[in-house]
Amino acid sequence: MAADSTPWTYRQPTEIVFGAGARERLPEITGRLGSSPVFVTDGGLVELPLIAELPALLGEDTPVFADVAPNPTVGMVDALAELIRERGADVVVAAGGGSSLDCAKAACSVALQGGPARRYHSGGEALDERHLPLVAMPTTAGTGSEVTPNSVLGDPEKGVKAPVVHDNFFPTTALIDPELTHSMPRGVTASTGFDALSHAVEGYWSRNHQPICDTLALRAVELVFDHLEDVLEDGADATAREGMSLAALLGGMAFQAPQNAAVHACSFPFSASYHLPHGAACAMTLDHFIRFNAPAMGERGVALARAAGCEDMERLADEVARMKAEAGLPTTLSEIGVADDDIPAIVEASFHPLMDNNPREVTPDALTEMYRRLL
Ligand SMILES: [Fe+2]
Repeated sequence: MAADSTPWTYRQPTEIVFGAGARERLPEITGRLGSSPVFVTDGGLVELPLIAELPALLGEDTPVFADVAPNPTVGMVDALAELIRERGADVVVAAGGGSSLDCAKAACSVALQGGPARRYHSGGEALDERHLPLVAMPTTAGTGSEVTPNSVLGDPEKGVKAPVVHDNFFPTTALIDPELTHSMPRGVTASTGFDALSHAVEGYWSRNHQPICDTLALRAVELVFDHLEDVLEDGADATAREGMSLAALLGGMAFQAPQNAAVHACSFPFSASYHLPHGAACAMTLDHFIRFNAPAMGERGVALARAAGCEDMERLADEVARMKAEAGLPTTLSEIGVADDDIPAIVEASFHPLMDNNPREVTPDALTEMYRRLL
């Protein structure tokens, strides 16, 4: 076999603390980074007992910002940055799904560099190095945001949802306590679980893939296939929850260097215009791109399929399609309100730069055909 001499780098500056009950270490970890914390979470989580007790661990009167909503916007980043400045905070703790973590990542830079956040979004100015330390505590198992430099933000005025990627956005510490994921409803578990799977698959097949991320990706795929169906059947299954938290972590580490590809590029219009949760938007095309990319993958495709316990990529696509349907995620575009006439606009909006990472070239005609079949 010919040596693959393409140079590669792997960098993971985030400290990772993982385990059931790890949240008890929050005061010690945060205390190392600053003396005046702000706690960030989303409106839907702030009342949950396990989340509600976290700010008190940081000290009385810790300010709580609970105005993050799904698909966070540049406006939410500005509101959080304002609170950070007002309170003179020097460290941020964010507990939540990708939304809270992504909003906090951007606010940690915007608070020091000045807003509005829109200035730095979708082709805007580059951020400099100034940012506050961030402790990221995921309450879902999917985004991998706790270990990536990505912050996916929307700008409703421009109708754009896009990732901003900057070295500042690596959280200082990822504090991963799988017990925080137990209260996730089944639909969120399904959607975020497919996000984890999509990260592993896309990090693996990205044109920028490399050996460390490949290894992490294959293990993440294996973990999803071992645990996702169990956790969907019983959300209190601690072993399966921990397995999915680990899958999400490894999936995040698997794509943060190579970056995602066609599945993620196509997910953005489904989320921005049809309000599909991010993981469900990835699931929409995942099995279809597994079939589409198979001819470009050769032996590497067989290794990917085997990590999932499948013989080849065709069987892997069949399994992913079955799991998606059984998880209750949408499997057709008409279910989410897409009509045949909408397809040209969605095809156009799908050509985000991540599309260039896909192992097989995606043409507008090929994507149109895929979306027509998905109707
Ligand atoms: Fe994702």
